[in-house]
Amino acid sequence: MQITLYSALLAAGLVLLPAGASRAAEGVDLKHVDWSFDGPFGKFDRAQLKRGFQVYREVCAACHSIKFVSYRNLSDAGGPEFTEAAVKTIAAESNVTDGPDADGEMFERPAEPKDRVVKPFPNDNAARAANNGAMPPDLSLMTKARKDGPNYLYSVLTGYDEAPADVVMADGMSFNHYFPGQQIAMPQPMSDEQVTYEDGTPATLDQMARDVTAFLTWTAEPKLEDRHRLGFKVMIFLTIFAGLLYATYKRVWRDQH
Ligand code: HEC
Repeated sequence: MQITLYSALLAAGLVLLPAGASRAAEGVDLKHVDWSFDGPFGKFDRAQLKRGFQVYREVCAACHSIKFVSYRNLSDAGGPEFTEAAVKTIAAESNVTDGPDADGEMFERPAEPKDRVVKPFPNDNAARAANNGAMPPDLSLMTKARKDGPNYLYSVLTGYDEAPADVVMADGMSFNHYFPGQQIAMPQPMSDEQVTYEDGTPATLDQMARDVTAFLTWTAEPKLEDRHRLGFKVMIFLTIFAGLLYATYKRVWRDQH
């Protein structure tokens, strides 16, 4: 009982912890989006996660991996919830190396739902070589790895600009208001109409940045909805428990005054 109570209290504390202040490395205020998944009752918007995956696949996947995600996760509850048939089709559009076969040879085959999402480059050196020596980091945990991750990602994706006259840009770098140092080796990856959404949503830069950020928040925390549900149950439990404790206290001390 003791242990349950302590973990319940701990869980309640974690749920209620206020989100960290929105500041990028050198004190630039991040842009702030009202995410559907914010707050103790927040949930992902399935349609948004599907659009976000489309953006990842059609734009970001040229350079960035999401190595902790398998195709079948795309149909898991609490995620984009693609149908299993859709996941099979999505997976089969990429090839993976498998083997060795009976002759000891490696071979290529279409990816299956059980496979990890195929990486753009076979290794880090190839990734750097294709990006002027800069490494496009794996994005599966990126929203967790950065402070106020979702707002940070959204800000960087929408934060490209002409370099101010007094800023000297290094070769091949782009100016970005929100990336620490304000020089980023990633060329602006998206502008309006970069993709055509299957659900008809207008593909503005702002919309695509929101959608892909929501998707990458899910890849970093696929159990977010479960955690929020548990937090809510714990709160109810604690409320009832406090009531019971109070009733017991009254009863025990009733005749002692
Ligand atoms: C042409 C290749 C390319 C594409 C396409 C691309 N990126 Fe990048 N990205 C990079 C490189 C290279 C870096 C490393 C930048 C640096 O260290 O200066 C990077 C860095 C990042 C970072 C890390 C910022 C940080 O704080 O370290 C994020 C987040 C990111 N990209 C998100 C995306 C998203 C989302 C997309 C798709 C909309 C995308 N990228 C498309 C090459 C790319």
